[in-house]
Amino acid sequence: MFSRYKKTSDPKPAAAVADKAAKALNARPSANPAAAPATPPPAAVSVKTSLRKAAPAAAAQPVAGDKERRRKERLGEIKLELHRELLDNLNLAALEKASEKELRAEITSIATEVLQEKAIVLNREERSTVFQELYDEVTGLGPLETLLKDDSVNDILVNGPKQIFVERSGKLELTDVVFKDERHLLRIIDKIVSAVGRRVDESNPYVDARLKDGSRFNAMVPPIAVDGSLVSIRKFKKDKLGIDDLVSFGAFSEQMAAYLQAAVATRLNVIVSGGTGSGKTTTLNALSSFIDNDERILTIEDTAELQLQQTHVGRMESRPPNVEGKGEVSPRDCLKNALRMRPDRIIVGETRGEEVIDMLQAMNTGHDGSMTTIHANSARDGVSRLENMIAMAGIEMPIKAVRSQISSAVNLIVQASRLQDGSRRMTSITEITGMEGDVISMQEVFRYQRTGLTPENKIIGHFTATGVRSHYSERFRMWGYDLPAEIYEPTAG
Ligand SMILES: Nc1ncnc2c1ncn2[C@@H]1O[C@H](COP(=O)(O)OP(=O)(O)OP(=O)(O)O)[C@@H](O)[C@H]1O
Ligand SMILES: [Mg+2]
Repeated sequence: MFSRYKKTSDPKPAAAVADKAAKALNARPSANPAAAPATPPPAAVSVKTSLRKAAPAAAAQPVAGDKERRRKERLGEIKLELHRELLDNLNLAALEKASEKELRAEITSIATEVLQEKAIVLNREERSTVFQELYDEVTGLGPLETLLKDDSVNDILVNGPKQIFVERSGKLELTDVVFKDERHLLRIIDKIVSAVGRRVDESNPYVDARLKDGSRFNAMVPPIAVDGSLVSIRKFKKDKLGIDDLVSFGAFSEQMAAYLQAAVATRLNVIVSGGTGSGKTTTLNALSSFIDNDERILTIEDTAELQLQQTHVGRMESRPPNVEGKGEVSPRDCLKNALRMRPDRIIVGETRGEEVIDMLQAMNTGHDGSMTTIHANSARDGVSRLENMIAMAGIEMPIKAVRSQISSAVNLIVQASRLQDGSRRMTSITEITGMEGDVISMQEVFRYQRTGLTPENKIIGHFTATGVRSHYSERFRMWGYDLPAEIYEPTAG
């Protein structure tokens, strides 16, 4: 992918000189022809699709869809009935100890009896679906289980028992999965949180937890949740999106990838900024792949999501207080302790509170190359967020001193965005270059330039450099990452 700019040898200055010579010979002639066709085709494709009428096949679907829906409804009713019978007949205490085989056999036998009694005929496939769902119901997370197993689902969002949305390829879809009623939903929530030693009820109405498979789980129950319990699950992806995946998905360009590689490898301090679900953690994880394998990295997260590929990684997970309000280990506690553990780099999953002080201090005092994410909508906004967090942490410092602390700690702000068509893109890479009077000076090096909207509401746009050369070019060169000058040249749409 972006190997055209990628440094091939290891980042030792000596090797870099030879590399640079080779690049000077190779990069220019090959870069232009390759770069030119890289951007126009998407625009051409979208124009083509926009001229085409929406697929007529859609009209034929409802018939098949209706039948399928009726079948599902019928199966759902049968399942509910069987489930009720099961709960009446199964010895729930003995369930805990039963093996999977025993349990499946028991469920099959009770369910078969009930089906016979009620003279319900199911075909083989239906039987196996219903039995599997009953098994999930008894042992697992009930209706959520199928969604958890579905790899195309990223997020699961439950708004009360009868409305479950999922996110697939950036778009929210309403599913036909439902809970029987609020009690059923509450029972599943309870099952999840009690497995991790937590409790959720009227006096303790919301909870954050991590599922066995690593997925992030949050629930809020009535009366705070007005129309029934609210649940959100961010599914854990075993194979996190890597740099090459993100480039090929159009999350950022090859040139940006090459620039980011230089930035991370030469140990700039990076903040990934973005809104909820904009791809911050994914970006942070992808950026971490540029860290050298012989560095010691410590990671601190609320819920361990990062999957670093390096050998030398220490992972920490902060912990909220328990029901009695005891036992909290805050991100700040972890960070303070991490500083005593001889890290080369520290990665904090998200900075949102007083740990900002220690994070900036770490970035300023020999742990360069540290990274974190913050919730903000632009680089400027990100800096204001940092200022606010410092103020909220009760640090009384003149604003100029705060800003100077930020400007010397943070080198780069990478903005992740989820655009209105559901696509996730890196919409800006901004460098912090110092202070001018009381103001932190910044320069944007790359950005996503939107140019329009297709009739299907897909955003048309392209990535471009802004034409400013990186403030850190000399540093990159010294470390052997001599990016060709054309990387900073704007691309026409
Ligand atoms: N460029 C992308 N293309 C497609 N899917 C993506 C992209 N970036 C992230 N995703 C997917 O979007 C979901 C949200 O991503 P991620 O967890 O990184 O967001 P986040 O900003 O950290 O969210 P939160 O604010 O909840 O922590 C994940 O399921 C991830 O796999
Ligand atoms: Mg995240």
